[in-house]
Amino acid sequence: MIITHAEPDQLDSIMDLERDSFPHQENWSAQAWSDELSSPDSCVMVNTDADGAILGVAAFRCVADMADLNRVIVHPDARRQGVGARLILAGLDWAQASGADRMLLEVRTDNLPAVSLYKSLGFDEISQRRDYYGPGHDAWVMLRPVGDEISEWALA
Ligand SMILES: CC(C)(COP(=O)(O)OP(=O)(O)OC[C@H]1O[C@@H](n2cnc3c(N)ncnc32)[C@H](O)[C@@H]1OP(=O)(O)O)[C@@H](O)C(=O)NCCC(=O)NCCS
Repeated sequence: MIITHAEPDQLDSIMDLERDSFPHQENWSAQAWSDELSSPDSCVMVNTDADGAILGVAAFRCVADMADLNRVIVHPDARRQGVGARLILAGLDWAQASGADRMLLEVRTDNLPAVSLYKSLGFDEISQRRDYYGPGHDAWVMLRPVGDEISEWALA
């Protein structure tokens, strides 16, 4: 598995992942991904297989000492193989190099795979935002120091 910064010509493959992984009403638009790919404050990491197919993508932003994890998606056939974790670890490295000392994210409280992934990487819930994703759909706000040691699992 290879992790690199995404290129603009990978937008279509990223959009395929996006459509496979979220209900339509939660999809990011192609314009939103295009903005992430071109913003100087952003970092989009992709994980590709030996043939160049995208297995996963993650989008990060960094402003001053605060980084945000805005999106992470792994192809349904590639889940539970460490792809999501490795993408986030790559983003933490990028955030540290960009001067951040914390990384923040929001996640649906009922998105158990994602909440488990974030906890396994040392993110802690710091608050809950009621109805953040619409009526009845709350968010956890989760935070992690950027320079912290990563878990032994992540190093395996
Ligand atoms: C959430 C998501 C990115 C996880 O990616 P992944 O590559 O499967 O995760 P990893 O293999 O790196 O998992 C690392 C750890 O996270 C936890 N985890 C991941 N998926 C889990 C699941 N379905 N159930 C329970 N724990 C899970 C486990 O602790 C796992 O370690 P283990 O496999 O050794 O038990 C993936 O399920 C996905 O793309 N979901 C749809 C998009 C989404 O909801 N993104 C998050 C919001 S933007």
